[in-house]
Amino acid sequence: MAALAAAALPCPLLLAVSWALAGTAAGEKILPPPSNLSYSFIHICTLNWTWNPPENVSSNCNLWYSSNILTKGDPKDISTWHKDQFRVTDAHLNEEMLFRVRSECRNDTTTEPSPWVETSLLPKGILGTAAVDLSCVWHNLEYMACTWRPGQNASSDTNYTLFYWFDGLENPKKCSNSSVDQGIFECIFNLTFPKVIRDYPAISILISDDSEEIRPVCASKNPTTLVKPATPRQLTVSKTDDTINVKWSESETFPKNCLHYEVKCYNGDLDIQVIESETNSVSIPGIDPNSKYTFKVRAKLKTVCYDSHLHSDWSEEKSIGEKRDSTTYFVLIIAIPLIVAVSTVILLVYLKRLKILILPPIPDPREILKRMFGEQNEDSQSSAKDDPMNAFDRVIIEEEIHSLVLTETSESTNSEKENR
Ligand SMILES: *[C@@H]1O[C@H](CO)[C@@H](O)[C@H](O)[C@H]1NC(C)=O
Ligand SMILES: *[C@@H]1O[C@H](CO)[C@@H](O)[C@H](O)[C@H]1NC(C)=O
Ligand SMILES: *[C@@H]1O[C@H](CO)[C@@H](O)[C@H](O)[C@H]1NC(C)=O
Ligand SMILES: *[C@@H]1O[C@H](CO)[C@@H](O)[C@H](O)[C@H]1NC(C)=O
Ligand SMILES: *[C@@H]1O[C@H](CO)[C@@H](O)[C@H](O)[C@H]1NC(C)=O
Repeated sequence: MAALAAAALPCPLLLAVSWALAGTAAGEKILPPPSNLSYSFIHICTLNWTWNPPENVSSNCNLWYSSNILTKGDPKDISTWHKDQFRVTDAHLNEEMLFRVRSECRNDTTTEPSPWVETSLLPKGILGTAAVDLSCVWHNLEYMACTWRPGQNASSDTNYTLFYWFDGLENPKKCSNSSVDQGIFECIFNLTFPKVIRDYPAISILISDDSEEIRPVCASKNPTTLVKPATPRQLTVSKTDDTINVKWSESETFPKNCLHYEVKCYNGDLDIQVIESETNSVSIPGIDPNSKYTFKVRAKLKTVCYDSHLHSDWSEEKSIGEKRDSTTYFVLIIAIPLIVAVSTVILLVYLKRLKILILPPIPDPREILKRMFGEQNEDSQSSAKDDPMNAFDRVIIEEEIHSLVLTETSESTNSEKENR
């Protein structure tokens, strides 16, 4: 609000006056310059530079004023001629503005123009703290959304405030619906004009801060260059015989014949067709009944109505028709045989187990017989081995066992004795 308070006060201070006295030496042919040059703010971002007429101008002088503005950012020096004792200009606020004016008798070649009188408007706050990258979009002729970034030298907790004014508003308004997202400030304010109005007034925007350190910045925005239509809604797609009808809701805010539409039609992944429409519907004849069609729409502005090149976002997509998509193919070609194979294996394993449970393996009579006779065979074999050599060996082995037993017992008795 500090900036607004300052804006409301006229600034009578004459900051700098360059008075070229050299001219007076040339005699009465040089006009005296205007006096009391000063400026005052009209609303937020507009300045009224005022001055008084020079004294002692002869009555046959057709007095005019020439003025120009010099800024660092915009060093153009285009003089404007006018009879009024004031000139209204945009204020920049974030850079020094130098205003100069001189008087002249038009169509009088015998009188020299006066020297320049100048005054400058110095920026407030710290360099590099002004908001940057201000950009505004006028959504659907309903509300303006402006975004900006903080200046490099601004502290991270700077609370920028946006004020706006346009011809027709009595006082500047403060934008209150603001938010910050990832360092980007945004403020949204309602902006509507009666439908009959086609020449929208310029919107003055001031971004400032309560603190003295933050440098304010002004911008003038031409609404017609910022229009963005709303996303078409209620998209419906219907089919009659071999024709598809696509419809969507008509805009309620735009005058008739100021919008046209772009319809995108996808048939499969590759076939994309773009259809332009002047109305809120299109009919597409000669369609393939075995294809799936997907549609989306966006609104565009007619250049006869607006100077904006912004189009709406794409609407939601709507589809019609049947087509096996890639997942169906996957299921059909890969998944189903795979499932069949796996389940077959599982079934086989399960069946085998089931067989074991229900029908335990029948004992083979041959095995039983074999086992019986096998044992007998072994006996006969061992008896067959009963030759004298074997008998001798057995005796030796038996003797060895005996001796082992003997030594063991003797040792054990010995150890028992020792333990005692
Ligand atoms: C600028 O100031 C002059 C002198 O006070 C006044 O006559 C004129 O109407 C003002 N211009 C505007 C646009 O307010
Ligand atoms: C204007 O003329 C009057 C009377 O001739 C004179 O007193 C006054 O000094 C003049 N003013 C200027 C600025 O030349
Ligand atoms: C920030 O402040 C420094 C020191 O005052 C200055 O040199 C620099 O240019 C400023 N940054 C910007 C973006 O103006
Ligand atoms: C911005 O606003 C917040 C909350 O109101 C406050 O805490 C903070 O100090 C303000 N920042 C500045 C630079 O004034
Ligand atoms: C602020 O803006 C958002 C986004 O457009 C909107 O949803 C919300 O209703 C607005 N709030 C106020 C208080 O206007």
